[in-house]
Amino acid sequence: MGDKRHLVWELLLPLIFSDIHTSILTIKIAQRIESMCGIVGCKGDARASEILLNALKSLEYRGYDSVGMAVLNKCQIFIKKDIGKISDVDKKLNFKGLEGNAGIAHSRWCTHGGVSKENSHPHTDSNGDIAVVHNGIIENFEKLKKELIEKGYVFRSETDTEVLPYLIEEAMKDGNDLKSSVIKIFQKIKGRNAIVVLNKKGDLIGARNGSPLIVGLSDSACFIASDIPAFLRHTNKVMYLDDGEMVVMGKKPIFYNMSTWKEVWKRLIEIDWNAKQAEKGEHPHFMIKEIMEQKETIKEAINQNDKEILKIAGDINNAFGTFFTACGTAGKVCLTGEYLFSQISKKHVNYIVSSEFPNYQHFLTSKTLLITVSQSGETADVMEAVETAKKKNVKIVSIVNVKGSSLDRVSDHTFLINAGPEKAVASTKATTAQMAVIMLLAYACDGRLEEGKRLLIETAAKVNDMLNPRYEDHIKSLAEKLKKVPNIYIIGRGLNYAMALESAIKIQEVSRIHAEGFAGGELKHGPLALIDKGVPCIALVANDDVKNDIINNAIEIKSRGGYIIGVSPENNKVFDYWLKVPDVGVASPIASIIPVQLLAYHLGVLRGLDPDYCVNLAKAVCVK
Ligand code: F6R
Repeated sequence: MGDKRHLVWELLLPLIFSDIHTSILTIKIAQRIESMCGIVGCKGDARASEILLNALKSLEYRGYDSVGMAVLNKCQIFIKKDIGKISDVDKKLNFKGLEGNAGIAHSRWCTHGGVSKENSHPHTDSNGDIAVVHNGIIENFEKLKKELIEKGYVFRSETDTEVLPYLIEEAMKDGNDLKSSVIKIFQKIKGRNAIVVLNKKGDLIGARNGSPLIVGLSDSACFIASDIPAFLRHTNKVMYLDDGEMVVMGKKPIFYNMSTWKEVWKRLIEIDWNAKQAEKGEHPHFMIKEIMEQKETIKEAINQNDKEILKIAGDINNAFGTFFTACGTAGKVCLTGEYLFSQISKKHVNYIVSSEFPNYQHFLTSKTLLITVSQSGETADVMEAVETAKKKNVKIVSIVNVKGSSLDRVSDHTFLINAGPEKAVASTKATTAQMAVIMLLAYACDGRLEEGKRLLIETAAKVNDMLNPRYEDHIKSLAEKLKKVPNIYIIGRGLNYAMALESAIKIQEVSRIHAEGFAGGELKHGPLALIDKGVPCIALVANDDVKNDIINNAIEIKSRGGYIIGVSPENNKVFDYWLKVPDVGVASPIASIIPVQLLAYHLGVLRGLDPDYCVNLAKAVCVK
């Protein structure tokens, strides 16, 4: 009976999920506008403002429309804040002029309230005795704000955050200390939030429910931030807050569960990232540094524990339905995963974009396996998908870059991709590393793990050869030709279909040129109408069984005047411009996305954009 149901499931799922990938792009952009902020606090070092400024620079990828800092000096809190990028605001305000040994800071990405100095963080209570920085969205802030206004509070900003210092002030009027007040307000606010609070007595407190917050400890000082690189130059010893927890910072931070008010013990974890990895080094931008790091990161990703790969492959083989879920680029990796599993192990797995995952909960049973893919491990929609799945007792396996991230900690098993910090907003090295881990699993499901490893080692070596300065110059010349075009289209089939979609994401977000990816077979069903003389179209052509079909699609475009850029191991007369990639069999999605990453990067630079900070987007999307 079990086997038959399994078979029906396997036959039905391709029909059920056949066309859920197309609307992802528009959804994603809307989601990401509602994004992140970077928050940080430190205590115990007289250079607090310098530490916070450096931390802000490393958190800038989380938000970069305004910035602010509060530092405690002789029982008084001093604040500087304004709109603009950190370096510009610092030039104007000189953050280091704030003297003191405790402080908090914030880089903002507006959600509630436009970009203005008033809306920048930190926000304070009525007397300036308490300062708060916040990451997330307080879903019930309008109701809370109304109640506070009725009590006489005067709001100076349009933000949801400003209710927090007033709520704390209110709670303290009832005789609560800062710790109890923070617990009380967390019981009032709804949504995914993290805050760091400083008062004029020098108490520094962090609390989270849904947004990341990590504590760092050095010999002399303590740090708290949305992400580890914020304090990596001072320490790699970290402690993670879980949802519903708060921490009173000090030499020995004390953690509390905000529901039970009880102390919680935390393990001190050493992260094997170093500060250098989180810096640009000789590269002008993080994005190019991270693209080039793929010479190493594919190899690092393969460095997994065989037993664990085989164990999870066994779970996939035995599961009553395996789902993959992720957002954006990581989602395209999962879609590639569907094809990899189909080709390598003849196994059907289902990718569902995380924001749509709850709609599929009726297909989940306790025998289902959910594999999530996320660079940050903090993406809100992925976390919600996991919550949905957990309610059905689904086992969760995650493929993650950030050790100790929320996703890592809620998963039954995590494969770390070992790519090191990825700081450019546009994902590059994490993408190829994630694909490598999925390939290992697909090979292991078919009892051919060693063969998979050999192919990936060969791929890593060939990518290493490909990423040389001449290759980059060749792509730069193409970027020169394309820098003023209004549209770029990308076609792919089979294993490279998802990479056509991913190519479009890279070009859109980094160069702001309108780009769209299609399955080659879909051209005649609509997109061909967009092709005119000179319209650039990138064709991802691997040496596989769909090669002739995709070449035919390129010919169809060319005969309507299109300009064909072939990404392929071999040249072809239909190509107007050829970007050679190594012939690596089923690993071809790894090889074919790299030249497009480079093209997107150079298009962005030539168009005067900062490729590390994509307009309207942020790196970790911790809100829905
Ligand atoms: C695009 C990009 C995003 C992320 C997406 C999910 O270059 O980076 O589309 O892939 O926001 O983020 P993670 O992987 O952190 O869950």
